[in-house]
This record gives sequence, C-alpha cells and structure tokens, in this order.
Amino acid sequence: MSKIKVLTVFGTRPEAIKMAPVVKELEKYPDEIQSIVCVTAQHRQMLDQVLSLFDIKPDFDLNIMKPNQDLWTITSDVLLLMKDVFEKSKPDIVLVHGDTTTSMAAALSAFYAKIPVGHVEAGLRTFDKYYPFPEEINRVFADAVCTYHFAPTDTSVQNLVKSAIPEEHIYKTGNTVIDALLHTVKNNKADLSYIGLNPDSKTILLTSHRRENFGEPIRNICKAVLELVEKNKNIQVVYPVHLNPNVQKPVKELLGNKERIHLIDPMEYAPFSTLMKESHIIMTDSGGVQEEAPSLGKPVIVLRSTTERPEAVEYGTVKLAGTDKDTIVNEVQKLLDDEKEYKKMSEAINPYGDGLASKRIVEIIKKELPKVLKAV
Ligand code: UD1
Ligand code: UDP
Repeated sequence: MSKIKVLTVFGTRPEAIKMAPVVKELEKYPDEIQSIVCVTAQHRQMLDQVLSLFDIKPDFDLNIMKPNQDLWTITSDVLLLMKDVFEKSKPDIVLVHGDTTTSMAAALSAFYAKIPVGHVEAGLRTFDKYYPFPEEINRVFADAVCTYHFAPTDTSVQNLVKSAIPEEHIYKTGNTVIDALLHTVKNNKADLSYIGLNPDSKTILLTSHRRENFGEPIRNICKAVLELVEKNKNIQVVYPVHLNPNVQKPVKELLGNKERIHLIDPMEYAPFSTLMKESHIIMTDSGGVQEEAPSLGKPVIVLRSTTERPEAVEYGTVKLAGTDKDTIVNEVQKLLDDEKEYKKMSEAINPYGDGLASKRIVEIIKKELPKVLKAV
C-alpha cells in the first residue's frame, strides 16, 4: 500500500502551536503516512520558538517575513511559492489552520493545484467581515476551498452547515490548542524568575496584537492599564509585546519604564503557559489565549467587541470589554474588588477540547484519504 502524503502548512506562532500536535500525531504512523511540513515563516522569530519547542524540522521554509509586511505581499508570496512546493512534494492532501493570511493563501494555492485541503479549526465566525480583519474573510475563503473541515465545537459545526458546507465533510474534533496546552503544561516546568515579579502582588497578564486594534484602540488599552496600576497598588501587569511594529511603538511609548508594568519579549510557549497558570486575570485580544485560559481557570477580559469563540462567554469565564478605556477599567476593577464575581469567572471549564483533537484528525485522514486515492 502506498503511503498518504500529508503536507502541513503554517506560518505564524498560533498556527504552529495548534498544528504541532497534528504533525506529531502524523509522525506516529510512518508506515501509512508520509508527513511533510512547509512553513511560510510569515512570522520568523515567533514561529521558530514553537518549532524548537516541539522539535519540528520543516521540509520547506519559504522564509517570507519582511519587516512591517502588508497583506498583499504575504498573500502573493504564499500563493506563488506554494506552487513550487506542491510540484516538488506532490501531496495527496494539504492541511492548513484557522484564519491567517498564510492559511488562506496556501489553501487557495492548493485549490488551484487541485489538491484536496483539510482545514483545521474550521467554522469559526463573527459574521462581520471587518472584525477581526482580515481573519473573518480569510477563514471564509479557506472553508470555501477546503474539502475536509475539522471543526472544534458544535457552534463551529453549525456555522459550516449555515455556510452550505456538505455535512458529510464536517468533522467535530475539538481544538488542537488543548492538545498543545495539556502536553506543554504536563511536560515543561518553566522558570519565570527573569521577569522579576513580586510574589505578593496579583499578576495581570496582557496580550494585544490585532490589526483592528492598531491606533486609538491599542492606546486606549494602554491607558486603561495605566489607570488600573495607579488605582491598585497590589497588582502588577506583564505584557509580552508582540513583535509587530504597530504594537511595539505605542506600547513602549505609553507603558515603557512604568512601575509594576513589565514589558517583555514574546515568550516561548512553555513559560507563557506557566505564566497564564500563575496569573490572577488575563486581558487579551488573542484568539488562542481565549481558548486556553478557561481550561486553566483564569478569568479573561477580551479587548474586542466581538468574538468567534462564544463558548466560554456563554459559560461566563470570558467577558467582552471592547477597547473603550473606562469599560476595560470597570470590568477589571470589578474582578479585583468582587470576590464572588471573580470566583464565578474562574471556574475551570473547557469547551474547546479534550486533548485528543489531533488524534481524531489523523484518524479521519487515514480513513478517508485511501478512498479518494483509490477513486482517482
Ligand atoms: C498575524 C496574523 C493574525 C494572527 C497573528 C498571531 C494575518 C494577516 N495576521 O498577525 O491573524 O492573529 O499573526 O500573532 O495573517 N514580526 C516579527 N517577528 C515575528 C513576527 C512578526 O518581527 O516573529 C513583525 C514583522 O515586522 C512583521 C509584523 O510583525 O512584518 C507583522 O506580522 P504579520 O504576520 O503580518 O501580522 P501579525 O499582526 O503578526
Ligand atoms: N503565546 C505565546 N507566547 C506569548 C504570547 C502568546 O506562546 O508571548 C501563545 C498563546 O498561548 C497562544 C498563541 O500564542 O497559544 C496565541 O497567539 P497570538 O495571540 O499571537 O495569535 P491569535 O491566537 O490571536 O491568532
């Protein structure tokens, strides 16, 4: 029997974290599957941190990242360079993840090459094409060209059905982020002493990087943090600042060299997971962090007005605060002052998976692909 050739493509930090468990699972079946990895390196340093943690050595590295890159160059570089990767590797199936421009362009490129595509983390939607931008349209495009849809939750399954995706191509698998998180928390104990945190203070972990928050919104977030730190002498804020210059500049300008505010470099995934666990509250506009924090029992204040991850909001552990300064301050202050409210939001719940999503995805590929290959 010939092996199924699976080409996994990713380019940014969150895709790498969420695809690493899939790659590791594919590698468990060398007699049945030939696993090929292509990184676009839409992110360079933040991607390499994950590759080294999970010990993944890509077969192809497109190395496309440019300083302050725009959507046109990422899209055209990936679309075009993938053609050569397909010609060299001749995959039976291409796997892409989520909603980045790497994922959308790689999926489109595979579609042009008439190679079936599997979409990991399919079906997330806000149904607002500018929030988040450009991710909502990236995932709609990716879902439109993909054949296999690996949806993490019931809501994402329903979104795909509403988008007229044939039900027999939708598989509810859970989110692979939980596979990555459980593995990392279990196998890595990280030392956070370099941050210089005060053990007697409450730690608030902050991350923010979304394109639609550039400009005034990110400045409002920073001003809210300044006000919270001023009002509450018993808190400290840690912000691993995303390398995007549109984030670095305002954040360093407004929050640099301030007492009890620790601006640090993007963290490797293992120490970041430990920091999430040790934090009191998390403020974020990140998609991945919204999925991870509830399973660690951490209340999350989301710095966005919509989310494609409504499950934890429904359970009450995640709250949307948007980017208005006063609203953010009020929501965080409520959690600091009101023990009952804090307790309610810090219930450990996990609507996103059981740690077996990658296993399910690989099982589906092993079952479905041979049928397709035989039929060709
Ligand atoms: C990208 C994704 C976004 C995802 C985010 C995760 C798109 C359009 N955006 O946004 O969906 O939520 O990643 O973090 O796909 N940079 C570095 N080193 C790195 C990474 C980034 O220097 O390792 C700097 C570069 O100057 C780069 C810039 O950040 O040009 C922007 O990177 P880009 O991938 O275009 O956008 P993100 O905001 O990271
Ligand atoms: N993360 C990390 N180091 C950091 C910040 C985040 O490893 O300094 C992880 C986080 O745990 C999550 C992922 O990166 O798994 C989220 O990435 P990001 O917020 O950049 O992207 P998004 O999920 O919003 O697309």
